[in-house]
Amino acid sequence: MTIPELTDVHAAWLPPEAFRAIGTRRTLVLGEGALAETVHAEVAAACARYGGTVRRTGDGPFDLVLALTTAGPLPPVAAAVMAEAGPIGEEGHVLARRDGVTVVLASAPAGLLYGLFHLVRLGEPAFEAARPAERHEPATRRRMLDHWDNIAVHPVMGQVERGYAGGSIFWRDGVLRDDLTRVRGYGRLLAACGINAIAINNVNVHATEARLLTDRLDEVAAIAAELRPYGIRVHLSVTFAAPIVLGGLPTADPLDEDVRRWWAATTARVYETIPDFGGYVVKADSEGQPGPFAYGRSHADGAGMLADALAPHGGVVHWRAFVYDHRQDWRDRSTDRARAAYDHFAPLDGRFGDNAILQVKYGPMDFQPREPVSPVIAAMPGTRLAVELQVTQEYTGQQKHVCYLAPMWREVLDFGPWGPEGATVADVATEFVAVSNVGDDLYWTGHPLAQANLYAFGRLAWDPRLDPAAILDEWIDLTFAPSPEPLRGTLHTMMDGSWRTYERYTAPLGVGFMVRPGHHYGPDVDGYEYTPWGTYHFADRDGVGVDRTRATGTGYTGQYPQPWSDVYESLEQCPDELLLFFHHVPYGHVLHSGSTVIQHIYDTHFAGAEEVADMRAHWDKLEGLVDPTLHARVKELLDEQLRCAEEWRDQVNAYFFRKSGVPDGRARRIP
Ligand code: GCU
Repeated sequence: MTIPELTDVHAAWLPPEAFRAIGTRRTLVLGEGALAETVHAEVAAACARYGGTVRRTGDGPFDLVLALTTAGPLPPVAAAVMAEAGPIGEEGHVLARRDGVTVVLASAPAGLLYGLFHLVRLGEPAFEAARPAERHEPATRRRMLDHWDNIAVHPVMGQVERGYAGGSIFWRDGVLRDDLTRVRGYGRLLAACGINAIAINNVNVHATEARLLTDRLDEVAAIAAELRPYGIRVHLSVTFAAPIVLGGLPTADPLDEDVRRWWAATTARVYETIPDFGGYVVKADSEGQPGPFAYGRSHADGAGMLADALAPHGGVVHWRAFVYDHRQDWRDRSTDRARAAYDHFAPLDGRFGDNAILQVKYGPMDFQPREPVSPVIAAMPGTRLAVELQVTQEYTGQQKHVCYLAPMWREVLDFGPWGPEGATVADVATEFVAVSNVGDDLYWTGHPLAQANLYAFGRLAWDPRLDPAAILDEWIDLTFAPSPEPLRGTLHTMMDGSWRTYERYTAPLGVGFMVRPGHHYGPDVDGYEYTPWGTYHFADRDGVGVDRTRATGTGYTGQYPQPWSDVYESLEQCPDELLLFFHHVPYGHVLHSGSTVIQHIYDTHFAGAEEVADMRAHWDKLEGLVDPTLHARVKELLDEQLRCAEEWRDQVNAYFFRKSGVPDGRARRIP
């Protein structure tokens, strides 16, 4: 096992400096297994750079012991920690420091790997004061990224659908890349923030990519081999029509015996080639993808067929709940896209097997900067649920804008579907999945500061109770190690509130979708208003917003349990930030904040653009304190962010001024 050396790619949150504290110590690594070898190789590489030592046996003295509890006689200090710690879960570890020795104990090699990266995060403090045994365990078993990568370059979407960081790190010019060192390096970054599964191809499975399941399976195996040393399992997006397009069968009916046999045999071959293969991801009957509806079957039938094929091998199917009518008539006010996932899936609760996971976007629409939490999450107690987030910034500035998303995700995870006192989304979710924001760009993510979103997703998936501001500091400290002031504080100031800033200068009060159709970048207030996509704001001369009440609207509020069902129904109780998602109100409607809706629109849009100008001024002050190439890249992007934020401000303000005729209370210039 060799540690990937990436000379022409940014080190992200694992620069050599992050390993200094470990690399200067005398370390004992005890334990067998592939991931224990990775741990050893990591420590050895750090020692080669910083002068420390690493051994696999012996009496010491040691400063650091990384040991599997099963590794035979442990040094006395580690044995003492073990006695104090009690049982440790499969991916967990216990960290302690006593008698001048830092001890990391795990019951399985994966735990040792996560323990190592925990030490990396801690740095020197891991070797200072004594620490009682602390237990670290992930909240969920699977913490997963979905890549929307294609092999071929799609004529509209490019190689990576909704990718803003260049081409795929896996494929180039229609073939698997020769050199997969970068994939190994990616696995290393992911392991360091806690991710342990990735689906490597787009959920919209086109003709070339469909073949990854069969005659191009060796490519999947090659990618899996690079990621395995970092504890990451590979999953594959498959087309529901595979029995037809790959198997030559006349049907893909999930209840047809030949179809079921085809999936069983095909899946068995996958496992012969990749014994630790994770499973399938399926987007069915969604935005033109094939699915069970063509055969009069349900999504439970479809998912069940694949779950049955995967079960003998320990695999899982992630079945996406993003099912809605994308060809609706905008004149039809009764069809409400927000209702669709619940209407399709809630009646199927209890019909998905143990290895079928329903993957639900966090909101009922589509990754908008502000949506209510999807009611599906509360409606399926008998189903394993993966909550899907979008790290790639499709609707949040496309990695041209600084938009640190962890505060939004944390709000989603903390939401109590049965009220603030009850269980939260984080309690209900079986796992968390997110769409990756990585490509073959020098900085991995296009915008160098967008790395923080990927890092934060991993950390929140590991522990949904972590504080987004603390995660941000962790990321800054690792990435810009040793992150002196004013660098650290300035970055924090620029990024911590950037999601709310983005919200201020874009679509107001939860109404969403005022983006340019197709590519979804920049403002276009009416861009989707008369389209078949089900994404409307209904602004007229008197008011704006979507009436989703039971009393007079689409009835969507009724999909929530109490208290939200009534809270969202009520104009008085509905939270300001979601008002226009649930209600159509006059421009003069007074918010809880005391402002009218129209004045709120003006104020937030002026404020949001000003905040971006401040961000840019902050960044200018960091010139000379960060790598000049990185500084220049971010500076250029901040220019674009400011241009775009001003465009948003002016288009949205002008639109609503012209519709309503209400002047700005503070007499600012509205074009
Ligand atoms: C969005 C996105 C699509 C994507 C889809 C999905 O609609 O714009 O590119 O395919 O989500 O999540 O399946």
